[in-house]
Amino acid sequence: MIYSKAVMDHFYNPRNVGAIEDADGVGEVGNAKCGDIMKMYLKIDDDIITDVKFNTFGCGAAIATSSMATELIKGKSVDEALKLSNKAVIEALDGLPPAKLHCSVLAEEAVKAAIADYYSKKGLAVPESAKIANCCCHACQQPA
Ligand code: FES
Repeated sequence: MIYSKAVMDHFYNPRNVGAIEDADGVGEVGNAKCGDIMKMYLKIDDDIITDVKFNTFGCGAAIATSSMATELIKGKSVDEALKLSNKAVIEALDGLPPAKLHCSVLAEEAVKAAIADYYSKKGLAVPESAKIANCCCHACQQPA
């Protein structure tokens, strides 16, 4: 299996690993197919994601895609972060082998789950775009 330089870089030197104690939104998602788990923490000020950290109990592709996802949403507005697709994360990493495409879904879903938590904590309705499909294999969400 061939991984791009960017994937290897983010796997060996993942950005924003850890937890945020007083996070404004925390999302935990799992991939029922492989059992991998990802937790994402967001600090949000005035609708801007000022800090983000993640922990992944998962494969190398899951680590690399979460790392890249955190880089892509840091400093962005909540709305912009909600538009982050796993496809955009894969593109930013110069691609993933087909067998690992599903791993990138974890990162997108963890961001959405953390934002949904942020809305719930504020007592606001969770926007449709922050809701994640409740499927078990994510095959329906794989990029074309
Ligand atoms: Fe489970 Fe990659 S094999 S997320």
